[in-house]
Order: sequence, then C-alpha cells, then structure tokens
Amino acid sequence: MNMLALDTPDQDYWTNFYSDSKFSKEFHIPSQFSAFCLSEMRASEIKRVVEIGCGNGRDTLLFLQHGLSVIATDKSDAAVRSVQEKFGSHNNLRTFTFDVASVDSIACQDHEQPLAIYARFVLHALTNEQIKRFFNFCSGSTRKGDKVFVEYRTCHDKDRQKEFAGHFRNFLDPSHIEDLSQQYKFALCYQTIGTGLAKFRDDDAHVARQVFTKES
Ligand SMILES: C[S@@+](CC[C@H](N)C(=O)[O-])C[C@H]1O[C@@H](n2cnc3c(N)ncnc32)[C@H](O)[C@@H]1O
Repeated sequence: MNMLALDTPDQDYWTNFYSDSKFSKEFHIPSQFSAFCLSEMRASEIKRVVEIGCGNGRDTLLFLQHGLSVIATDKSDAAVRSVQEKFGSHNNLRTFTFDVASVDSIACQDHEQPLAIYARFVLHALTNEQIKRFFNFCSGSTRKGDKVFVEYRTCHDKDRQKEFAGHFRNFLDPSHIEDLSQQYKFALCYQTIGTGLAKFRDDDAHVARQVFTKES
C-alpha cells in the first residue's frame, strides 16, 4: 500500500496538481491577496516582482495586466510551463523553474527600481529549514527598501475544513516568521491575521498576511 507522507513536502504533489489541465489551463480569478499587494506595490512605486511558487499564474496575470514586470517561478516545471504557454506573449514576463530553498538569490538587484518578492500560499508548503532558505533567498535578492509579501496558513488553520486534503502543510506561527525575517535583515511593516482573507469554497483558511521591508 502506498502511504502518503504528510510530514514532508511531496515532491510530485504540485507537479501532478498543475499537470491536471483543470488547475493549470483554465482561467482562474486572482487571489484577494494579489489585489491587496498590487495596491501596496503601486503605493511604494514597485514595478518589478519576483513571484515564488506562481502555481497556475493567476496572480502573475494580474500583475502583468497592471504593467508590472514579473519573474514568475515555481519548483514545478508543469506550473512554469503552463504560465509560459498562457502568458508568454507579455513582454514583461520571464519564467524560471527552481526550488527557492536551493538557490541563494536571483540576479535582479542591479536595477535601480525597487523590487518585491511575492509568495502566496508557499511558506506553508515548505519545511522550517526551507523557510529559512526562503528568507536567505529574499535577503540575497533584495536591497534596502525592497519588500517581501507573503500570505500563508497559520497554526490556527490546522483543524479547519480544507478543500484539498492529503498533502503536506506546515501550519505556521506568524511571530516565528517575523523573528526569522529579522535574522535576514527584514522588518515587519504590515500584518493582518485571521479568516475571510483567502476563502475558497468551504475552506475559509486562517491566514497571516505579512509585508517585510529590507532594512540594509
Ligand atoms: C498552494 S500552491 C500556491 C500557488 C499560487 N501562489 C496561488 O496562490 O494560487 C503552492 C505553490 O508553491 C510551489 N512550491 C512548493 N515548494 C516550493 C519550493 N521549494 N520552491 C518553489 N516553489 C515551491 C508549488 O509548486 C505550488 O505551485
């Protein structure tokens, strides 16, 4: 019998998920979080986004449609290929397949314009060690004043109803994520925590939204 290990990320889970045309090819509505971030990015005159864990690209498309330059990345090649196929005609899009926990930076810090790193529903797909590597990547890819936008499931979400069960989720303590970010020279500049921010069908996730600014 095949046992599904829920205590570590399943290497193939997201590739299988985005290989299913239902999740990769159909139009999807952008997340509430992406609309919030777009507004915040505009206010900070951010025009460049590095998206980690872009999935089917629903948030990538919103950013492109509003004139941002987007580097859309994911560990799943199926996801990245689908984003490239669907939205590759946008001049402002570049796509890359990589595991954020295995690279130290992406070479985009030479530009003068401010940068955002955006990761929605990605942190809780990582182990604690991979989350450290995520912040290491953010630190290596940003300069003073750049921002990191994250939304993820909190520890209070663990026993709530889920729409897609049966895969690894690391339910996180937002204060722990804030402490960790400080070790990588980020300061929390906004957070909100609760339900009603990321509802999907019967899955009204208890989430944290956090925005960090690079301090030096
Ligand atoms: C829950 S989905 C979120 C997708 C999209 N951001 C959204 O909100 O619809 C999590 C995504 O993170 C990606 N992911 C998981 N672990 C990753 C890693 N170590 N590096 C990069 N991407 C990863 C998965 O392939 C998947 O596309």
